[in-house]
Amino acid sequence: MQHDLVIKGGTLATATESFRADIGVRDGRIVTLGEDLTGDDVIDATGKLVMPGGIEAHCHIAQESGMGIMTTDDYESGSISAAFGGNSCFVPFAAQKTGQSVADTLDTYDARAAPKSVIDYSYHLILTDPTESVLAELPEAFARGVTSFKVFMTYATRVSDAQFLDILTVARRHGGLTMVHAENHDMLGWMASALTEGGYTAPRYHAPARPGLAEEEAINRAISLAKLADAPLMIVHVSTPKGADLVAEARHAGAYVFGETCPQYLFLTRHDLDQPGMDGAKYICSPPLRDTATQAALWRHVAAGTFSVVSSDHAPYRFDETGKFAKGRDVDFRGIANGMPGIEMRLPLLFSEGVVKGRISLQQFVALSSTNAARLYGMLPRKGTLAIGADADIAIWDPDETRVAGEMHDAMDYNPFEGMKVTGWPTTVLSRGRRVVEDGLLRARPGDGAFVARGTTDLSGFTGTRLTETDPATNFGAEIFR
Ligand code: URP
Ligand code: ZN
Ligand code: ZN
Repeated sequence: MQHDLVIKGGTLATATESFRADIGVRDGRIVTLGEDLTGDDVIDATGKLVMPGGIEAHCHIAQESGMGIMTTDDYESGSISAAFGGNSCFVPFAAQKTGQSVADTLDTYDARAAPKSVIDYSYHLILTDPTESVLAELPEAFARGVTSFKVFMTYATRVSDAQFLDILTVARRHGGLTMVHAENHDMLGWMASALTEGGYTAPRYHAPARPGLAEEEAINRAISLAKLADAPLMIVHVSTPKGADLVAEARHAGAYVFGETCPQYLFLTRHDLDQPGMDGAKYICSPPLRDTATQAALWRHVAAGTFSVVSSDHAPYRFDETGKFAKGRDVDFRGIANGMPGIEMRLPLLFSEGVVKGRISLQQFVALSSTNAARLYGMLPRKGTLAIGADADIAIWDPDETRVAGEMHDAMDYNPFEGMKVTGWPTTVLSRGRRVVEDGLLRARPGDGAFVARGTTDLSGFTGTRLTETDPATNFGAEIFR
């Protein structure tokens, strides 16, 4: 068979095995896995690892935060940075504003993404104002291929437990997945008041203001709501061992519960916030950074399979008046933009500290970085694997290259992981067979990326949690899930 492109001589790694083979690509898709393939164009991958391109499933791009601050990265700089970090697809958020319709929200983000992205993209729809009419519009999101929603249990944009249940129920009916930022809003508010009233206003107090207990309470509540609705739920950015335990426990009970953690909770601690002046603002993210014992416990959960994905939660705000200090420099920690960059560092850090240091296998790395996201967010087998018929979304890695992390390709003015020695970097990234990054150079143009209409969440292997009270067989025939 004639190929447009052949990737020769590499070691292929999927979520289940590694093997030596060439990959033949035609019309942007993988059409052959074999030996001695020929093609019009050849990439020599001798000595390299050839993996499905990363899928970044949690990042904030061209999005206003709950505080109304626009992220520094738009779809151009954000997608370029993602690609240099080994990603061939990403799923940022489309955030509904109060009173905004589903269609208008998605149109807004289409306009922001389509002319700019260098890699394929989709969105999770953040619901901040889930009125009856907005809930009735959600099938429209599914029809457009947007099959995941996100809610907040804190910030001004939070939903009530009843609204959360409504969203879970609609998502479940259509085969979608609801994501949640789980922190107890009132516990955070109470702590923040106690701190600021005592004069403890510096960035470092962001950490004590958001106790792990507030995350644990909210995760427990979110899981209870998901069990009641018998609906799938992704707990994003889990930052506490107890929170991870709750995810594992729910999964063992058959609940459709999934977990995500992020590099900042594996590599940074609250001590990074403890810097002179306002410098600690660079490390303000929510949930906040914890401690080294937490890091070790979270790594154990990564290795044990509690987490389906490790995502960056890239939420870039420059260390200036456009970003971190959009509300001024003389604010207490509550007035500083929440979030830090990391879209380009996610996979190199996970590879270096995970695979190279022997904490996880190469197969786990592929699952955590790409395949599981594709499975949960409705893109498998089109994306997330190296299989016949799949999009040729491929990352070629040099597993031996060591670099000290420095400036990234995003639009940011700092890298929270700067100075870390990282072994294993992507050298070439392809999206549908097109070179996006090759040998340190950008080869794609803004707008080359395309919207990915996603399907439903793969829940195979889970039994769900139909309760006595919600099961017509045991609740005297009442149909709760109509
Ligand atoms: O601090 C963070 N993570 N900011 C981004 C918004 C969110 O909470 O995910
Ligand atoms: Zn969040
Ligand atoms: Zn986030």
